[in-house]
Amino acid sequence: MATTAVRPTTRARRELLALVGRTPLVRITADLPGPHPGFWAKLEGLAAGGMKARAAVSMLLGARERGELLPGAPVVESTSGTLGIGLAFAGQALGHPVVLVGDRELEPSMRQLLRTHGVRLDIVDRPAAQGGWQAARLARLHELLAELPDAYWPDQYNNPDNTAGYASLAAELAGQIEHLDVLVCSVGTGGHSAGIIGPLRRRWPALRLIGVDATGSTIFGQPARPRVMRGLGSSIHPRNVAYDAFDEVHWIGPAEAVASCRQLARESFVSGGWSTGAAARVAAWAARVHPGAVVATVFPDGPHRYLGTVFDDDFTAANGLDPATAATRPVEIAHPHATEAVGWVRCTRVTDPLQAVPLPAYAPEENP
Ligand SMILES: Cc1ncc(COP(=O)(O)O)c(C=O)c1O
Repeated sequence: MATTAVRPTTRARRELLALVGRTPLVRITADLPGPHPGFWAKLEGLAAGGMKARAAVSMLLGARERGELLPGAPVVESTSGTLGIGLAFAGQALGHPVVLVGDRELEPSMRQLLRTHGVRLDIVDRPAAQGGWQAARLARLHELLAELPDAYWPDQYNNPDNTAGYASLAAELAGQIEHLDVLVCSVGTGGHSAGIIGPLRRRWPALRLIGVDATGSTIFGQPARPRVMRGLGSSIHPRNVAYDAFDEVHWIGPAEAVASCRQLARESFVSGGWSTGAAARVAAWAARVHPGAVVATVFPDGPHRYLGTVFDDDFTAANGLDPATAATRPVEIAHPHATEAVGWVRCTRVTDPLQAVPLPAYAPEENP
């Protein structure tokens, strides 16, 4: 395990803040998996620090304003990658050393990229018996908070400043598009979906929000299982998820995400990772089943991080992911507990698992 020393006070470079966001919006017409009328995609991977730079800057600025983060104090967070890049960016812009707790499954290229940007990486090598890698990372994070004087933990899963950071994304979308009927968002911490939908519904009150989760994720009430997909999905119930705002949720399996990422890369050039593939498949489906509707989604990052996973035939074969077997439409279930989603599943009843009245245990639907 690495030592806990961090570099002394870092100089702030506020000029970098001008690089946050302002991402392009592009029309996607690639077959996903077949023809569809097209949808809009916000290409968050094209801004410095990626989508999560918005959240990272917002969380650090909020903490600075409240006096929870002192000038030059270290920032410590648990991350599987994307927020790490955002925090590396925000740390340089606002003058804070960044310490990140990752796990053994963090790709070597991502580790290298984080270190290249001056992050100190602390890698846990064993999942916790309860809560898996996420719980193991959190346990190490608490050790670091105790060891590092004045260290600040943004806690992206429960910090409202994560959500607030996406007000800029909503404003950009509202300026780039004349009308919007359906917004499709992948859900991990819940930050970007919650942050965009509020302002956009004030502008377009009938706007529908579709959440995209991973199979094996417990965010929307399914049982937590080991997952190959990163970014979207979680083995906890983040308080930033705006459960009330969702009209429906889709669970997508890794084969569907892989098939979509590859089709996007081949036909629309822009692509990304697990969350991009999953959100794109659902956005294409929404455009297909709501003829005439304007549909938009967010592509949280680009393809580079996933060259050794999503786009690697050896990886997909080793993980039993055959894009040719990917589901072409969702199976509908009546409530989140109706059956365990192992492939593409859709549900129009969305409840907060921590608030929900107990539902029947997992039992197959009579008419799925
Ligand atoms: C690549 C990627 N996509 C999607 C998400 C989900 O976004 P949010 O956390 O805003 O729900 C994340 C979050 O970590 C991510 O890293």
